[in-house]
Amino acid sequence: MEKIGAGTAIFRSAPMAVMHNDVEYNFRQESDFFYLTGFDEPEAVALLAPHHEEHKFVLFVQPKDPEKETWHGYRVGVDAAKERYGADAVYPIAELNEHLPKYLENADRIYYRLNRDRDFNQTVMDHWQRLLTTYGKRGTGPVAIENVGFILQQMRVIKSDTELERMRRAIAISVEAHNVAREMTQPGRYEYEIQAEMEHIFRKQGGQGPAYPSIVASGPNACILHYTSNNRQMQDGEVLLIDAGCSYDYYNADITRTFPVGERFTDEQRILYELVLAAQRAAIAQIKPGNTYNAFHDAAVKVLTEGLVRLGLLVGEVDKLIEEEKYKPFYMHKTGHWLGLDVHDLGPYKIGKESWHPLHPRQVVTVEPGLYIGPDIKLAEEQPEVPARWRGIGIRIEDDVLVTPTGNEVLTAAVPK
Ligand code: GLY
Ligand code: MN
Ligand code: MN
Repeated sequence: MEKIGAGTAIFRSAPMAVMHNDVEYNFRQESDFFYLTGFDEPEAVALLAPHHEEHKFVLFVQPKDPEKETWHGYRVGVDAAKERYGADAVYPIAELNEHLPKYLENADRIYYRLNRDRDFNQTVMDHWQRLLTTYGKRGTGPVAIENVGFILQQMRVIKSDTELERMRRAIAISVEAHNVAREMTQPGRYEYEIQAEMEHIFRKQGGQGPAYPSIVASGPNACILHYTSNNRQMQDGEVLLIDAGCSYDYYNADITRTFPVGERFTDEQRILYELVLAAQRAAIAQIKPGNTYNAFHDAAVKVLTEGLVRLGLLVGEVDKLIEEEKYKPFYMHKTGHWLGLDVHDLGPYKIGKESWHPLHPRQVVTVEPGLYIGPDIKLAEEQPEVPARWRGIGIRIEDDVLVTPTGNEVLTAAVPK
């Protein structure tokens, strides 16, 4: 509210998503909406109107309706929402168009984030247009719509104690699942058996379920970044790459480990694993206040490219190979992302064209370098062929790292590397 001053901010709940025909996915509240209100029902709108005399926080919700609730589940309703969520005024959602104008007509701006709910985007535009038409008679009203997402990303990127508690819980559950997964992995088992056991733990420990589709990728599947079919039988002599984490009270963990399906790595697997691990260590060392967001990616790329040159998999001068992105057939993604309410969390990466965002205490990032030598890997023309013995190996190691006042804390350290 401090940041929007004389403006009114409008937030829309998440829509219900269809799984098939008339069957819907479990509802998950839109993250900004949840962050600001804690309210987790669909068909809702939240307003922040700090300039309003009495109603600074307004909710529109689904009213109580015993018959509908019998079919679709419990609703808090208008009266209890006021009590429980601390709103100054609560209306049934059907009265949105009737009440919205009085919260907008004295605002100098509308703060809103355009989103996939096109109908609602249009509703906001329609109200704004009507107020612009009558601006002359009133002498007040919103003269612009500003992206409230810029404000939210500055806030959400810095985690409160409550948020960090939830993230630590999501991480603890995910750590347990990874450790069980490693214990049960052996040649002959199917990828989905591992997935099932992990997701069983996620739910059994009170998590909401997977934070994203679990990746359990053996052999060459480890080279497919978003492999999620998880239906292959694992063989001795391969690696298993597991990228899985759970959601707990809306907050997410995101962990990747890669290890041998059988007892040990082959020489090539071990060499690549050690290289990715060295890159990850170099990257984590760059996570500290004052460093900018790109420092840890650059550190990982440097170690990986040097290693690829040492192994003869790339030929050339390291700095030039980096500048020309010749490492990209082996390492095509970034080294991390903000983590929080969203797995790829809302947060600023760049400021302007040239400068990267500085790291601050209470931010959480993933650090996840990898190397992927797909069976059909293609390098730039002047580069050598990748020998067959390296092909079909994919390695990624991903930890969740909290920026602390003096450096960082690896929150996911309890899964061995
Ligand atoms: N599993 C998604 C990611 O690592 O970004
Ligand atoms: Mn991941
Ligand atoms: Mn990640």
